[in-house]
Amino acid sequence: MSPPLSATAALFILFVTTTSAATIFKTEQHTWGPFNTSYFNTFSILNGNINFGALQVTPESAGSVNLTNISGRIFNKQPFALWTDDSELFSFNTSFLVNVFRVNNATPGEGISFLIAPNLTIPDNSYGGFLGLTNSTTDGSSDNKIVAVELDTVKQAYDPDNNHIGLNINSVNSTVAVPLSKYGYEISPNGTAFYMIWIEYDGSRRGINVFMAPQADKDGPTVAKPLQPVLSSKLDLRNLVSQKSFFGFSASTGRTFELNCVLRWNVSIQTLPEKSSVIMGIITKRCRLGLVWAFL
Ligand SMILES: *[C@@H]1O[C@H](CO)[C@@H](O)[C@H](O)[C@H]1NC(C)=O
Ligand SMILES: *[C@@H]1O[C@H](CO)[C@@H](O)[C@H](O)[C@H]1NC(C)=O
Ligand SMILES: *[C@@H]1O[C@H](CO)[C@@H](O)[C@H](O)[C@H]1NC(C)=O
Ligand SMILES: *[C@@H]1O[C@H](CO)[C@@H](O)[C@H](O)[C@H]1NC(C)=O
Ligand SMILES: *[C@@H]1O[C@H](CO)[C@@H](O)[C@H](O)[C@H]1NC(C)=O
Ligand SMILES: *[C@@H]1O[C@H](CO)[C@@H](O)[C@H](O)[C@H]1NC(C)=O
Ligand SMILES: *[C@@H]1O[C@H](CO)[C@@H](O)[C@H](O)[C@H]1NC(C)=O
Ligand SMILES: *[C@@H]1O[C@H](CO)[C@@H](O)[C@H](O)[C@H]1NC(C)=O
Ligand SMILES: *[C@@H]1O[C@H](CO)[C@@H](O)[C@H](O)[C@H]1NC(C)=O
Repeated sequence: MSPPLSATAALFILFVTTTSAATIFKTEQHTWGPFNTSYFNTFSILNGNINFGALQVTPESAGSVNLTNISGRIFNKQPFALWTDDSELFSFNTSFLVNVFRVNNATPGEGISFLIAPNLTIPDNSYGGFLGLTNSTTDGSSDNKIVAVELDTVKQAYDPDNNHIGLNINSVNSTVAVPLSKYGYEISPNGTAFYMIWIEYDGSRRGINVFMAPQADKDGPTVAKPLQPVLSSKLDLRNLVSQKSFFGFSASTGRTFELNCVLRWNVSIQTLPEKSSVIMGIITKRCRLGLVWAFL
């Protein structure tokens, strides 16, 4: 066999091998909400609450407690693996219905985010512009190992405005921030607004897309996902977060406050199948690798 032909064959088989490695992933799905007290078993709640059918990422009891300068987090207690031991990234999608409510039509503050974090803690003094993500000591540190998608209602020096969506990597200064006014969306308008957010992480392309759409009725069917994302970015999670990370939400209030409510939440994530099929996958992979060697 001539060298170019065997090289082509080897490339072809390598291609088959990598494709088969990707296709052995299975997908794990979670559909959560409306929320009630039974979810205290599933979620870890730091400063927030479950009430009125929603995850209250910061406390909701207007009138009874001082709702200014608070931060909170709510996590799914079970961590997710984000890549295989061979560094092959899993893909995942998460979608949620959110209501950022301004009480008595007062100015809202500060924001809520979907968060990937290495443990079930919250930094001290992460209220105000820190959105429950970082604080004045930790902001910007790669030790944070957090990636978040924020809905921000207060303009800080580093923000484009007081109504944007952003991709945050270890910092509240977003790496990508998109003003939502150009879509006619207001995160926390007078009255009540519900928004669906879809976050899609493609592990093989190492990219994130975030879609957003208003939904009139919180109890109605989920609105259709728009074709175009509001935010799109390259993102290689392997260099940023822990291989096993927790998914959840963080939020904060500052001098002004808002209620940070999540009414429904889905997660769909790739994972390795049961041991038996993994072993079969490895055997198949090894056999194919053997074939490659034979060709070479
Ligand atoms: C709480 O929600 C769960 C899941 O939707 C449901 O199965 C359960 O019946 C609810 N419990 C109460 C007390 O409403
Ligand atoms: C909340 O606490 C801050 C600072 O302690 C105070 O300025 C504010 O008046 C309090 N608000 C209410 C409603 O008690
Ligand atoms: C995420 O959604 C996209 C678009 O609908 C779909 O192609 C992909 O298979 C989904 N991935 C997972 C892990 O559910
Ligand atoms: C969650 O998934 C279920 C089942 O596919 C779907 O009916 C529902 O609309 C989804 N909800 C959200 C918030 O994405
Ligand atoms: C929101 O309501 C408040 C109080 O009623 C009012 O002062 C303010 O102008 C309203 N804002 C908008 C944008 O409609
Ligand atoms: C920020 O949080 C870390 C823990 O995550 C803590 O050690 C540090 O003291 C906090 N900084 C401030 C200013 O509270
Ligand atoms: C949790 O993770 C943060 C970084 O996001 C780190 O500063 C903190 O020490 C960790 N806490 C524990 C208990 O592991
Ligand atoms: C925010 O980050 C950008 C780079 O992404 C940087 O140019 C800017 O100085 C930062 N702003 C602050 C206030 O840290
Ligand atoms: C909130 O915290 C900021 C900064 O720490 C402080 O200046 C302000 O007085 C606090 N406001 C309230 C209402 O507690």
